[in-house]
Amino acid sequence: MFFPENRPRRLRRTETLRRMVRETSLSVNDFIYPLFVVPGSGVRDPVGSMPGVFHLSVDALVKEAEEVRNLGIPSILLFGIPEKKDELGSGAYGKDGIVQRAVRELKKKVSDLVVVTDVCMCEYTSHGHCGVIKDGDVDNDSTLDLLARTALSHAEAGADMVAPSDMMDGRVGAIRERLDENEFSHIPIMSYAAKYSSSFYGPFRDAAHSAPQFGDRRSYQMDPANSREAIREISLDVEEGADIIMVKPALAYLDVIRWARREFDLPLAAYNVSGEYSMIKAAAEKGWLDGNRVMMEVLTSIKRAGADIIITYFAKDAVKELEKT
Ligand code: PBG
Repeated sequence: MFFPENRPRRLRRTETLRRMVRETSLSVNDFIYPLFVVPGSGVRDPVGSMPGVFHLSVDALVKEAEEVRNLGIPSILLFGIPEKKDELGSGAYGKDGIVQRAVRELKKKVSDLVVVTDVCMCEYTSHGHCGVIKDGDVDNDSTLDLLARTALSHAEAGADMVAPSDMMDGRVGAIRERLDENEFSHIPIMSYAAKYSSSFYGPFRDAAHSAPQFGDRRSYQMDPANSREAIREISLDVEEGADIIMVKPALAYLDVIRWARREFDLPLAAYNVSGEYSMIKAAAEKGWLDGNRVMMEVLTSIKRAGADIIITYFAKDAVKELEKT
């Protein structure tokens, strides 16, 4: 049937009609809110490159987590910035590391929030790479033990889920084995399965003080030009025991999200990363676009592409928008 019998505009005439035929809707349940914890007390320092994002000491983090919980957001993703960094990133797996301390407090005070911890070395190493350096590159196999130790120390502190973001080969299996040997077989792994070597992480590296001091991350994170490889990467993580798989970044990789959705039936997360956040915030500050509307459009597009879970610095703002409708 063609025009004039067929007129798609009939179903767009009123908001109620549009609501009836809407294919995708965002919910508060879709979001994970990332937070950055730092040493000290009473600290709430704005991150310059990410308006609305703060470095929080443990006490301030607990307050923030209460607000997140009160908005109905089910989960946070925790990143730590340690007091000191060293070659082997020992701050990542110490019992009294910044994330371990933060998790213990969170589970005491806001116990119903799902606390996911980022498992990676780059915030903790003096060189800023995601693992142990040998001959000028990150050594895969010796990094696995440090990641497994880190994940275990997070679980021991009370983390509800661990999220390895380093892109070493075999790390999901190494973490699963270490958790299972230590009576944490109930702790799920959300794997950054297809994580690209992206310039959209720029503002995050400023926030997490984790920029590599030499070279870049192209020998371990994925080449932005590849999508078949993403499917191979995700398959490996699924075989090694990932419970939730992730594509990161989101916006420039919607095709990868869509493909992953068709190929795998595990819950699929997408990380709407720092650069995706900051560019909207910056343009909105300049009055060049309507920040809230663009935010909702972008988040909807990520869900439409096939993500079940969206990790986003916009989570609180988005929930406030959803409450208006
Ligand atoms: C750590 C890590 C990064 C991000 C999450 N975990 C940075 C990186 O790989 O350099 C980026 C998150 C963001 O940009 O919002 N490996």
